[in-house]
Amino acid sequence: MTLKNINPTKTESWKKLQAHFNEIQSVQMKSLFQKDNNRKENFTLTFDDFTLDFSKNRITEETLQYLLNLANESELQDAIQKYFSGNKINVTEDRAVLHTALRNQNNNTIKVDGEDVMPIVKESLVKINTFSDSVINGAFKGFSGKKITDIVNIGIGGSDLGPRMVVEALHYYKNHLTTHFISNIDGDHVTEVLKNLNPETTLFVIVSKTFTTQETLTNAETVKKWFLSSKFETTTSDIKHNFVAVSTNLPKVKEFGIADKNIFTMWNWVGGRYSLWSAVGLSISLAIGFDNFNTFLKGAFSMDEHFKNTPFEKNIPVTLALLSIWYNNFFDTESEVVIPFTQYLEKLPPFLQQLSMESNGKSVDRNGEKVDYQTGNIIWGNTGTNAQHAFMQLVHQGTKIIPVDFIGFEESLYGLKDHHEKLMANFAAQAQALYTGKTKEEVHLDMKFKGDSDKINQLLPFKIFEGNRPSNSILIKKLTPKNLGVLIALYEHKTFVQGVIWNIYSFDQFGVELGKELANKFLAS
Ligand code: F6P
Repeated sequence: MTLKNINPTKTESWKKLQAHFNEIQSVQMKSLFQKDNNRKENFTLTFDDFTLDFSKNRITEETLQYLLNLANESELQDAIQKYFSGNKINVTEDRAVLHTALRNQNNNTIKVDGEDVMPIVKESLVKINTFSDSVINGAFKGFSGKKITDIVNIGIGGSDLGPRMVVEALHYYKNHLTTHFISNIDGDHVTEVLKNLNPETTLFVIVSKTFTTQETLTNAETVKKWFLSSKFETTTSDIKHNFVAVSTNLPKVKEFGIADKNIFTMWNWVGGRYSLWSAVGLSISLAIGFDNFNTFLKGAFSMDEHFKNTPFEKNIPVTLALLSIWYNNFFDTESEVVIPFTQYLEKLPPFLQQLSMESNGKSVDRNGEKVDYQTGNIIWGNTGTNAQHAFMQLVHQGTKIIPVDFIGFEESLYGLKDHHEKLMANFAAQAQALYTGKTKEEVHLDMKFKGDSDKINQLLPFKIFEGNRPSNSILIKKLTPKNLGVLIALYEHKTFVQGVIWNIYSFDQFGVELGKELANKFLAS
């Protein structure tokens, strides 16, 4: 059973949303706050360590109701049920979509083609656990009998962005191993990484779902050649001590020379950009230890349960997806910016770019017809406060409306109080500034007060902030493995809801193929 095929623009709720948009498109959020003293509470959702304040959006209760109706008319509940139960909702690739099974903590069966996948998922977790422990405690040795000190993850796209982002995000929880990532086919990149590595103490983790990806195979071959160069006095039989692989393509992995015991399998029902919960996350488990990796999976599972079981009006991923559709399809906003207020999450925006844009960057609907409405948004971002000294000028005063997700943490990890207070003051200030802006009168008064009266005529228009710019504030207690799992799963489900409502197939990625084909032709010519 696959997803229903419903053109969102033909639904009753879409028509109501269009009429409603015409009425409220110019409404000022300030007046909405004035009318409702409890607006902040009324537009806040909580889940575990998470609080989503979405009060600073150009919405009313009525908007929300129409958006929720749209979710219902799109049969979102039916889609969620199919998503979690192993139905082949990735129709164009004839596959189930079961990254959620990788973190499932219930004792239920989840079947693909009549076979329960939970036993193989559990088996794979045991293998990840045993292997990570042995590398971390030094029982696993490199070819010359020395303990491993460095891990190199070789992969690209989903086989790089997820592990890279999580390893960096959870650096605070890291052990003595140093993790490196090689992704780009740029030979200078791999050379720079290898320059400082000792082959005796380095473990190479080749991650490729297909094991046919040009970038990954080229980099892996270069690394193998370096490893086997005569100066190290190594032979091909040493490869089994320093190379492991994660893939669905076992024959190709063996052909590369990886020993059977060093192969970690994954399955075609796990999409690349959703694969960090599988053995693709091996570098994560090596970096922070299996217990932390498992806690990370449990966090994601708790968000799965929230998403599956919470009524839409209290459901965080559903709410974020609906708000995103509201701006994208009615305000024609096109892009969304994500600003995490922690340096640890610097790689979250590139991860979300693949997650959202590779999933929902489609212009043909589930009927095979060209859509006449907008689908996937452009996702971008950087950390606060760095973003404030770079692109936030455009978000505050530019000609475009750019909805923002601010992500902040109540507690810092090392407890530098002074820094954290300043960081979080900026977190609050950015959302406030976008929403309130600064009027002509306020600028006038301000300049007068600062003794700049003589410049008022010249500078006043440039110092006005129109305000009324939307943002969501996601406040999380602390950056822990569990909460990071919750956060990533939240964005996965937001992406899913958007794809369901836009009536597109979110789990294929044919759009990356043409460039690959042409690159091969250019190479051959
Ligand atoms: O860019 C296309 C893509 O197929 C992604 O979806 C995937 O994450 C990446 O390439 C890497 O693929 P693989 O893991 O098969 O090497």
